[in-house]
Amino acid sequence: MSLKPIIAYCGGKRRLLKHILPLIPEHKVYVEPFVGGGAVYFAKPPSEVEIISDTNHQLIEFYRTIRDISDIDTFPDLSLNTVETIQQKLDTPITTPSDKIANYIITMCNGFISGVRCSKVVWKHNINRKMESIHKYRDRMRTTTIQNLSYQHIIEQYDSPDTFFYLDPPYVDTTVWYKDPSIDFVQLRNILDNIEGRFILSLNDSTFVREIFKDYYMMEVSLKVQGGMTPGKAFTKQPGGSAIRKELIIWNSK
Ligand SMILES: C[S@@+](CC[C@H](N)C(=O)[O-])C[C@H]1O[C@@H](n2cnc3c(N)ncnc32)[C@H](O)[C@@H]1O
Repeated sequence: MSLKPIIAYCGGKRRLLKHILPLIPEHKVYVEPFVGGGAVYFAKPPSEVEIISDTNHQLIEFYRTIRDISDIDTFPDLSLNTVETIQQKLDTPITTPSDKIANYIITMCNGFISGVRCSKVVWKHNINRKMESIHKYRDRMRTTTIQNLSYQHIIEQYDSPDTFFYLDPPYVDTTVWYKDPSIDFVQLRNILDNIEGRFILSLNDSTFVREIFKDYYMMEVSLKVQGGMTPGKAFTKQPGGSAIRKELIIWNSK
């Protein structure tokens, strides 16, 4: 079953799915080392073996809590509709796994970006409905290995001729949006040069990215995004506040 990401996530790849999913080669082992909101992982059919990972500790705790939850019948009251009531909910001590899951969803989905309140716009997402669908995400992740390691360790640990990696690192020049701004893209390219498996990598379009990945297959994709939410150099502002974001999808072959 194809699922949407359970949380809103900066850099989420839902709108690239139509380009990425058809490019996924046959594989037995699916590995997503920069999983974030997991747009690709949740949308694609399950593979024999699956590993997702991210250096964001809270995010990984959230996924593990969902995967391991047994009692999903009781939900906190989430009929909240103002910044104040949401803040009150977040300030209330967490007593159950459901509470923990709900708080993280609220933090990620309602006027917050990566845990920091960014506007008074709240309640774009129906948290109760998300909580009611938690069992689908639990079932989807049931046999998935969920790691909290940097991508180098994950690639080294799980590379094989049967492995497919989907890699979606923080954008070049915008790593400040994430908790671990330590991506060396040349190092990433060097690692990918030496793997046995196959990969698809998505990155923002830039001369630098085109140059370092010039030996691989590459497809350019344009996305229209709202200007207010966009970090600097990865975007071109358009009249009216929207922006065109150019992405590159890069892959190897065999
Ligand atoms: C562009 S986001 C991934 C978005 C995801 N594809 C989605 O659809 O939501 C990049 C992710 O890489 C993670 N990250 C940053 N540095 C990392 C590292 N060194 N190793 C693994 N993950 C890292 C960030 O925490 C963030 O979740």
